[in-house]
Amino acid sequence: MAARGSAVACRLRPLAGFAVATAGAQNFLGARWVPALLAVTPAGRRPAVALRLLAWSPHYFQPGEHDRHAVAERIRHTRQVLADEVLGRYLHADDDVLDVGCGPGYLAAAVAPRVHSVTAVDVSRGALACARVLNPAPNLDYLTVDEFIRGGRDVDVVYSVAVVQHLTDEVFAHALRGWHAALRPGGRLLAHVVVDDPRWQTEAQWRAERELAGRLKRRFALNCFGRSADQVRRLVTAAGFGELDLVAVASFVDVDDDVAGQHLLVARRLDVAAASVATPSRGLTVPVQATPVEPFDLEPFDLEPIGPAPANTDPTR
Ligand SMILES: C[S@@+](CC[C@H](N)C(=O)[O-])C[C@H]1O[C@@H](n2cnc3c(N)ncnc32)[C@H](O)[C@@H]1O
Repeated sequence: MAARGSAVACRLRPLAGFAVATAGAQNFLGARWVPALLAVTPAGRRPAVALRLLAWSPHYFQPGEHDRHAVAERIRHTRQVLADEVLGRYLHADDDVLDVGCGPGYLAAAVAPRVHSVTAVDVSRGALACARVLNPAPNLDYLTVDEFIRGGRDVDVVYSVAVVQHLTDEVFAHALRGWHAALRPGGRLLAHVVVDDPRWQTEAQWRAERELAGRLKRRFALNCFGRSADQVRRLVTAAGFGELDLVAVASFVDVDDDVAGQHLLVARRLDVAAASVATPSRGLTVPVQATPVEPFDLEPFDLEPIGPAPANTDPTR
């Protein structure tokens, strides 16, 4: 009985942590106390506490993954491989780069030695606080999206991995315009995307979902939307990008991560459409999601950016 009780407690503990650390849809570890806790933790204990916090978030750890150190090492390894074998093909040593949806920063830290600077942004202040502890680098800044916008920086490359699938078309379109505005003329977009995979429900299918589990997943943005390659191309082109290519990640690398079976969207900022799509906030903030409000949808979505596409492009500027 005691063993059963402790097994149940084991299962519930991450859920409890998740609930108290969440500041809204998509914003896992966004609660104010998360960065505050790390700030008062003695420096030597911070990495362990940051990892424990991350283990609550379904964005970074899967249910049932109990050895958080092993999971962290796996993430570090897969992000290093993605930086070296995938993103690295499109990056130059003098690039200033924006990492959108950086989470705990493993990917940003792997990219940093390859480029001039990395600005890594996320909607979650808690994820950013963990990233500063776990993955610092001299040329790497962790900022909220709002801080990035206020700073007025522009960059040569925007990349985003494991984020776009969480965004509705409306939010993705808005994010793309923000990325376009953040890029210097001719700047490059590298966005990991999931396309043409029948195992992934579309946004319309998610919206039609009446089961509580499905609705809760959507409420907390645990849903992942599948899209067709055409749909992705249309959205990216409409935001002012051209020279699109959709590359299978597997054509570059075999890595122990879902991303390996998916695609990288490569595109370049065109300047013709830029003026008509950029907003005063540089498009990076996202309006309240204009979807029907359901009983438990008490808060607006608080999201912003993403993007990717296909293969074997010429990675030169
Ligand atoms: C699955 S994690 C990916 C982390 C990292 N990119 C990686 O591949 O290791 C997704 C991250 O995207 C962030 N996110 C979700 N929507 C976002 C948005 N609209 N703007 C910025 N970050 C966002 C989440 O807070 C989360 O940290």
